[in-house]
Amino acid sequence: MIKKILKIILLVLIVGLIAVQFFNRPDKSTTTEVTPAHITKVMTVPANVESILKRSCFDCHSNHTTWPWYSSLAPVSWLVADDVEHGRKKMNFSEWTKLSEAKREARLNEICEEIKADEMPMPNYLLLHSEAKLSQADKDILCNWVETELKKLEDKAE
Ligand code: HEC
Repeated sequence: MIKKILKIILLVLIVGLIAVQFFNRPDKSTTTEVTPAHITKVMTVPANVESILKRSCFDCHSNHTTWPWYSSLAPVSWLVADDVEHGRKKMNFSEWTKLSEAKREARLNEICEEIKADEMPMPNYLLLHSEAKLSQADKDILCNWVETELKKLEDKAE
């Protein structure tokens, strides 16, 4: 009896999982295009800084997202797409100039804070992207860069 119920539950789950693939397919956009709005076009981004951002942040904070295979599989696809959507909305390195000057300054500040506190890259992302983990050296490079760029912005404002 219990075996039979378990079989039915399993069947329902499998059918449900298949059915769910057919609706709400997230928009998985990505591009290699670097437009004039790109952070590298309006700020000094040294090669070592850019490579860290690319490796650890671009999947969610740029339009150059590499969508993994499991991002085609609902319901995981919804979770992944949600992180990318919110990440881009908050701070998109591909569309940096769309942020106001004040927001750019705030985001730069937050970059150093978030990585020091190990809040970014998102911990659940690191489970499947161990290469994105930041070393202490990576953090120092990013924070020093942030400091230099913030100083430039302040000098400009004076
Ligand atoms: C897996 C996706 C993902 C990755 C990878 C990622 N982020 Fe985020 N990030 C997000 C999301 C989602 C938010 C928005 C959180 C919110 O609105 O509460 C965010 C927010 C932020 C913010 C704004 C913080 C705030 O105060 O709300 C900063 C700064 C940030 N991320 C920096 C980074 C940096 C730097 C990296 C790389 C070292 C990185 N993120 C990697 C998804 C990601």
